[in-house]
Amino acid sequence: TEQDECMGSVKEQIAKLFEVSLKVTVPNEPDVEPLVAACNGKFGDYQCNNAMGLWSKIKGKGAQFRGPPAVGEAIKNNLPTSEMIESCSVAGPGFVNVVLSKNWMAKSIQKMLVEGIDKWAPLPPVKTAVVDFSSPNIAKEMHVGHLRSTIIGDTLARMLEFSKVKVLRRNHVGDWGTQFGMLIEFLFEKFPNFEDAAETAIGDLQAFYKASKQRFDADPAFKERAQQAVVRLQGGEDKYRRAWAQICEISRNEFHKVYQRLGVHLEEKGESFYNPYIPGVIETLTKQGLVEESQGARVIFIEGVNIPLIVVKSDGGFNYASTDLAALWYRLNEEKAEWIIYVTDVGQQQHFDMFFKAAKRAGWLPHGDSSYPKASHVGFGLVLGEDGKRFRTRNTEVVRLVDLLDEAKTRSKAALIERGKGEEWTEEEIESTAEAVGYGAVKYADLKNNRLTNYTFNFDQMLNDKGNTAVYLLYAHARICSIIRRSGKDIEELKNKGTLILGHKDERDLGLHLLQFAEVVEEACTNLLPNVLCDYLYNLSEIFSKFYSNPECKVIGSDMETSRLLLCEATAVVMRKCFSLLGITPIYKI
Ligand code: ARG
Repeated sequence: TEQDECMGSVKEQIAKLFEVSLKVTVPNEPDVEPLVAACNGKFGDYQCNNAMGLWSKIKGKGAQFRGPPAVGEAIKNNLPTSEMIESCSVAGPGFVNVVLSKNWMAKSIQKMLVEGIDKWAPLPPVKTAVVDFSSPNIAKEMHVGHLRSTIIGDTLARMLEFSKVKVLRRNHVGDWGTQFGMLIEFLFEKFPNFEDAAETAIGDLQAFYKASKQRFDADPAFKERAQQAVVRLQGGEDKYRRAWAQICEISRNEFHKVYQRLGVHLEEKGESFYNPYIPGVIETLTKQGLVEESQGARVIFIEGVNIPLIVVKSDGGFNYASTDLAALWYRLNEEKAEWIIYVTDVGQQQHFDMFFKAAKRAGWLPHGDSSYPKASHVGFGLVLGEDGKRFRTRNTEVVRLVDLLDEAKTRSKAALIERGKGEEWTEEEIESTAEAVGYGAVKYADLKNNRLTNYTFNFDQMLNDKGNTAVYLLYAHARICSIIRRSGKDIEELKNKGTLILGHKDERDLGLHLLQFAEVVEEACTNLLPNVLCDYLYNLSEIFSKFYSNPECKVIGSDMETSRLLLCEATAVVMRKCFSLLGITPIYKI
C-alpha cells in the first residue's frame, strides 16, 4: 500500500536505526524508546540522547558499562550500517551525534522531485479523525473567532489529510436551541407567507435576530408564544420545522460565502443532527451511575472541578454539553474516529475539559492522554484591534468577515497596481494574484502565531512584503520559479536526467532543511500547532536566500547549474506544499 512506501520522516528513520542499536546494547531493557532529535549543530544533524537515562536505569544492575559516555559509545558501535549515515560520534556525557550522508541526502531530495512530495508524508498513528471547526451559530454573527476556528481547523485538517488520515471536516453549527422559538415566531409575525419571501425579506439575519430579541424582551405575550414555538419545533410540527429550515438555509448561504472565499471545505452536521441521539446517551450514562440529580438538573460530577457538568437542564431540556456528549458518542461509535479535534476559542476550555473527563469516566476514552481514541481541544486566543481591545470595526459591533477579506484583496490589488503590474498583467492575473496575496495574508497572520496567544489584526503588517508575512513568502516562491524559468531549462527533464549534489555548505544546509519537512508536519500535527509549520516555511525561505545570494553558489551559468536548479525546484516544491497545507494559493510570478 501507499503507507508502506512512505519511509516516515528522516527523524523517524534515524530513530529506527537507534532502536535496533538499543536492542543490542541493552537487551534487558526492551521497552526503551529511542530519544532522537534534530540538532542542526556542529556535532551533527541528529542526536540520540538515551545514554544518560539508560545509565541511571542499569548502573545498579551490574552492567558492563562504566558511565554514560561508555553507554553512548556502545549505542554508537551497535548502530546498524546505513547509507543515511556518514559518521557518528559521542560527545559530552554520552550524546550520540549523527552526521547524515550528503550523498543520501541529495538522492532523497531528487527522489522526492521525481516521485512527488506526497511520498514525504508523515505516518500518524490514526486512520480516521474528526476536525470540528468553524461551527458558527445560525442567525448569529459569524465573528472573528469563527474565522480563526475556520483557518486553524482547515490547516489541521489539511495536514492530517496530507498524512493520509481520513478527515471528517465537521461544521458543528449551532442550529438548535431556544433562540429558534423567538426567531420562528417573529418570522410568522413579520412574514405570514414566509416560504415565498423569507430569503429576500429577511436579508440581514443578524438584524432580524436583533429585532426579534427586542420583541421577545419587550412583550410577555410574544415571549410566551416563542416558548411554545420551541416546544412545537422540537415536537417536530411541520410548519415549525419548515420555518426553522428556512432560517438555517439563509445563514448557511452567508457562511458559505466566507468558506468559498477562503477555499475551505466543511461538512455540516449541526447540533440538531445529534439531537435524536441524546436521550439514549444520557440513559446509558445514567445506567452507569454517572448522572446524578443536583438542584433539579441532572449532572455529571467531575473530579477536581467544583461545578458539575449539566447534561439535562432543570426544565428537562438538553444543552450544549448534552449535544457534545451525543456527538462524541456518534463520532466514536458510528464514524469510528480515533482522534476528535475541536477548534474553538480558549474561553470554552473548561467545557471541553469537563466533557472529556466525563467521557473518560464513562470509559469512552482511555485515561492517558497519549493513547487513542483521543479527544483534543484546540483553543485559540483573541483577535485584537489596534487599541488592544477585542477587534471591532468603527461603526459595527462585529467585524463582517467578508468585509475583511474584501479589504485585504483591495489593498493587495492596489499594491500590485502601484508596482506597475497594471500594464504588464491581464486583469485576470491581477485579480487572482490580489486574492491569493490578500487572503493568504489574513490566513498567515493568524497561523504564524502560537494559537493560544492573542494577536493584533493589522493590515499594514500582514501585507508588508518584508518579514514573516505571506506576501514575503509568496514573493520568495515566485522568485524561485522565475530563476528556473530564466534558466530556459526543462526542469522536468532535469529531475530525471540531472544529478543533485550538495557540495557547498549552504547547499547542504538547504538540503537538510528540506529533508526535515516531514518531521515538522508531524510535530505540527501531534501538537496541533500550525505555527510550527509557518516557522519552518519562513526559515526555509531564509536558508534559501542565504544559498542563493552566496556568489559561491551561483546558479545560472555555473558548472553546478543543473544541480542547483534542482535544489531551487525542490525548495519551490516544499514551499508550495507548505502553502497548500496552510490553505494559501501560491503565485508564480511577481
Ligand atoms: N457553536 C459554537 C460557538 O460558536 C462552537 C461549537 C464547537 N464545537 C463543539 N462540538 N462544541 O461557540
